[in-house]
Amino acid sequence: MNILITGNMGYVGSTLVRHLRKVMSSDTIINGYDTGYFAHCLTGATRLPESLLNCQYFGDIRDISEDLISRHDAIVHLSAISNDPIGNKFEAMTQAINEQASHRLATLAVKHGVKKFVFASSCSIYGAAGDEARRENDPKNPLTAYARSKVFMENVLESHSATAMTTTCLRFATACGFSDRLRLDLVLNDFVATAMIDKKITILSDGTPWRPLVHVADMSRAIEWALVRPESVGGSFLPINIGSNEWNFQVIELANAVAELVNIDLIEINKDAAPDKRSYRVSFDLFKQLAPAHQPIYSLRDTIRDLKNGLSPLLASLNDFRNSHYIRLKTLSEHIDMGRLGHDLRWLV
Ligand SMILES: NC(=O)c1ccc[n+]([C@@H]2O[C@H](COP(=O)([O-])OP(=O)(O)OC[C@H]3O[C@@H](n4cnc5c(N)ncnc54)[C@H](O)[C@@H]3O)[C@@H](O)[C@H]2O)c1
Repeated sequence: MNILITGNMGYVGSTLVRHLRKVMSSDTIINGYDTGYFAHCLTGATRLPESLLNCQYFGDIRDISEDLISRHDAIVHLSAISNDPIGNKFEAMTQAINEQASHRLATLAVKHGVKKFVFASSCSIYGAAGDEARRENDPKNPLTAYARSKVFMENVLESHSATAMTTTCLRFATACGFSDRLRLDLVLNDFVATAMIDKKITILSDGTPWRPLVHVADMSRAIEWALVRPESVGGSFLPINIGSNEWNFQVIELANAVAELVNIDLIEINKDAAPDKRSYRVSFDLFKQLAPAHQPIYSLRDTIRDLKNGLSPLLASLNDFRNSHYIRLKTLSEHIDMGRLGHDLRWLV
């Protein structure tokens, strides 16, 4: 198999490359394509993840060539404006990258006979979702430009469902866990860093909102499954929630687990907070049924311990982490402020 991973130099991609290199047969070609916004944001890696690739291509997904696409039979599409804060600040670019460029990529993939297309979607497409755990066929209610872009792209891919390409839209829960390019703009990772630095955790809500989580390494195992999934398992177009029912957590549960393992006893809760619109639970039954051998294996405690151990040697760089390269929006803003990146999120020469 010749696999092209777009956005391989991000939080998920850096872990994915290591995983695929370990589990795929030695004749598998694994290439990466990324513009490198976060290339310098390595966290404790002892070997550059990209050195495990057959080839790293640098380029903007808006310009990816037909020739490169045609030389692969599987595409894992990760490259994106990848969270709500960046999507809110760069709404037009979120449409240009997550929608138009991704649409073009999918259309060219079909044209050139790509057999497997794996799309990194998100459970955020369910939006405010009440108490019932959301299933794949439930109505979508995207609340942000980021979530709308994921719905847009799923619709594009569904329109190609009668083609020979087998497509899996992995609707990931919120990621967490240590990675060679760690992010601290994710709830659990943020709690661990805050607990280690400030010796307290401040919850902006009353703690009751639900947050389904998934470990970044378990995301990689799900992507592996999607790459090898035959059409007979789930059909030619499959949107599927990725995570586990046991990992639907309330925010207060996460804070309590972090406090215990980081050994702090101060959790501040905002009892007067307005109801959190992003509270939702998700059913992962379909994933359990279709992919029994690729179910999440991490425990919450191990995830927190790994984060703590991984962050310990980096503590000196963490003091003001909310204004640092651990936060994706800050990294992009700094590139722009320093004249490296234009407001269209293209590199300035
Ligand atoms: N992390 C999560 O909680 C989560 C949850 C659900 C879905 N996802 C999705 O998984 C995918 C990967 O997420 P991540 O956390 O690794 O994101 P990330 O922001 O860490 O990485 C995204 C990568 O895409 C690249 N990229 C962005 N725009 C590009 C462009 N125009 N051209 C080429 N490369 C470009 C970036 O340089 C970066 O390396 C994204 O599509 C994201 O929406 C992530």
